[in-house]
Amino acid sequence: MSLLIKNGKIVTAVDEYVGDILIEGEKIVAVGQNLNYPVSKVIDAMGKYVLPGGVDQHVHYSFDFKGEKVRGFETSNAAIAGGTTTVIEFVNQEAGKGIAETIFEYDKKEVSKLAMVDYSYHGVICEPTDKVFAEISNLPDKGISTVKIFMAYKGLPFHSDDAALFKALKASKDSGVTVMVHAENADVIDILQKECVAKGQKAPYYHAVSRPMLVEIEATQRAINLAALAEAPIYIVHVTAKEVMEVIRDANNSGIKVYGETCTHYLMLDKEDLAKPNFEGAKYVCSPALRSEADRKALWEAINHGWLNSVSSDHCGFDWKNQKHMGVNDFTNIPNGSPGVENRLGILWTYGVNTGKISRQRLVDLFATTPAKINGLSHRKGHIGVGMDADIVIYNPNHESIITNETSLHGVDFNIYEGFKQEGKVDKVFLRGKMMIEDGKFIGQEGDGQFIPQNAFGLCFEDIKKVKKFESVSKI
Ligand code: URP
Ligand code: ZN
Ligand code: ZN
Repeated sequence: MSLLIKNGKIVTAVDEYVGDILIEGEKIVAVGQNLNYPVSKVIDAMGKYVLPGGVDQHVHYSFDFKGEKVRGFETSNAAIAGGTTTVIEFVNQEAGKGIAETIFEYDKKEVSKLAMVDYSYHGVICEPTDKVFAEISNLPDKGISTVKIFMAYKGLPFHSDDAALFKALKASKDSGVTVMVHAENADVIDILQKECVAKGQKAPYYHAVSRPMLVEIEATQRAINLAALAEAPIYIVHVTAKEVMEVIRDANNSGIKVYGETCTHYLMLDKEDLAKPNFEGAKYVCSPALRSEADRKALWEAINHGWLNSVSSDHCGFDWKNQKHMGVNDFTNIPNGSPGVENRLGILWTYGVNTGKISRQRLVDLFATTPAKINGLSHRKGHIGVGMDADIVIYNPNHESIITNETSLHGVDFNIYEGFKQEGKVDKVFLRGKMMIEDGKFIGQEGDGQFIPQNAFGLCFEDIKKVKKFESVSKI
């Protein structure tokens, strides 16, 4: 099968030009002007933007919060519908099993059969034994080059302490594995949650009260200090606030390699959403908590300036009626996380590009190119260029709609962006050359997605030699 996409405005992280893309099988084989090859199919993209398929490096299709499990890869068509062609799923290491063992059992049983999007895995360390740290150096041979430590969630099976984080950083760096961190002080949150509940403050809004910004600032600085001590790069996931972003920016300015991600909901929503009546606030319970309008403004600036490197969805498909209501009498039992994989591109386009906050090139960088690099996927994903996988989005800018759960494919009963305007529309999506969205409609199948092995030494390691010692960076 060969395909020619003609006359589109091709956008990469560094440029934009009108051109044609020739696809043979699963790969892009030529990019240029006036390409005229005999092909099986020609698509005219005149007047539309042609972007690389998105890479969402932060999704949860297997997350379990106090026994409540998110929707799985059977809903991954939502990613494709939102222009994301690769997702990276966090897999919590199971008790008594290795990281790779847990991941590939899950892959065989579920993901390989259901995925409608290409995917890689982050291994989440849950049992910090010597055996597990020894396993880290073998992970890149199996295509896993990222591991995650949850500093938050005291009492839950995936919480880790500082010793585990420090050991993970030391074990990872020589094999080119990047450590990602959910940075919040678990002990302090635990105390604040108990104080709220004891005072009868049990509504969703107290989720934010019990997770103030300082618990995120403190843990972020601590994680960075540990990374500097270990002389390893580090990646801080879901940054929510101005001061947290500044800790990351300042560490980078002092020579430590720290990468930071924010998520669409931290750019768009406020903690006031948690105060919505009739338990509606539970829809917005995610961790860290939503912050203020001033923080949102600072995060838009940060992604524009490159102080934060990517925008993910932190997609978590919990139902409101059946699952979020587990915490109707106590916010600490509300499953943490909200859906969003389908809305990342539309949000960045409408509220970023179309308001002048970021350029189209910057959008592509945050949405696809840099997440591919950081996660060791840039040999195949995140860019339109010869030799890359033919993962392509054709975006029609001349369209306006209102986001609603009625048309969302994520398989849950709410959308946190319900009622928001969206400018532009995902018109067509190709996954390794196969058309998955045609005229806005999903036409792919379960099993169309493939496991994409990650290369070791992602972007985090480019400047590894510049990593400085702990003494020069400690701020607290
Ligand atoms: O609230 C969130 N973000 N849920 C998903 C798990 C995590 O912390 O990333
Ligand atoms: Zn997290
Ligand atoms: Zn997450």
